Amino acid sequence: MLLAENPARCILIVGGPGSGKGRLCERLVAHCGVSHVSCGDMLRQEVQADTPLGREVSGIMQRGELVSSDLIVTLLRRRMRAFPGKRLLLDGFPRSEQNAKDFESQCGVPELALHLKCTDEKMVERILRRGQLENRADDNPETAARRLRVYHDSSAPTLAWLEARGVPIVELDCNGTQENVWSQLLAIGRLMRGAVAV
Ligand code: C5P
Ligand code: MG
Repeated sequence: MLLAENPARCILIVGGPGSGKGRLCERLVAHCGVSHVSCGDMLRQEVQADTPLGREVSGIMQRGELVSSDLIVTLLRRRMRAFPGKRLLLDGFPRSEQNAKDFESQCGVPELALHLKCTDEKMVERILRRGQLENRADDNPETAARRLRVYHDSSAPTLAWLEARGVPIVELDCNGTQENVWSQLLAIGRLMRGAVAV
């Protein structure tokens, strides 16, 4: 049974740790009338509030591994109910082929995936910089290495599965500045103006 909140309007934001998913989402929210759900933030809130779920996932997150797909999809579905009929950015989702399959069977086919591509060097540089500014248990060299490995192991099959399901995937070069990423999207937007049915 599919969700009532128009799942075809979900935009998947896929990218490694430090690829700029959160920043891009903030900007899309500010300029494009979309809403934003960050899987990592949802999990961190559970950890912070010391809920049973938070206690279950905190070690997994600290090690840089993925939580069970059932768990994250359940959390996501719960949060999505707050945004009926909205176009919704799913930040950090899917992280695995199982995430993608579970989402489709419970919520339907997403509208689009943005794939934020970045070199490992850039991602590590950003993670370590963020680690000095924010207090994230997983922004340290050891966990960063594990997160990158998990990303490399899981992203190709995840994207391949989405592609096979007919989900359009737009790749963005995210090695440069946020401004540069934004200009890539603006250029596509300008090209497509007039052809787009909202
Ligand atoms: O997206 P972000 O880097 O904030 O995610 C932080 C952590 O949350 C990941 O390293 C992983 O442990 C967990 N996560 C997950 N499944 C998702 C999204 C995040 O297990 N779909
Ligand atoms: Mg994030």
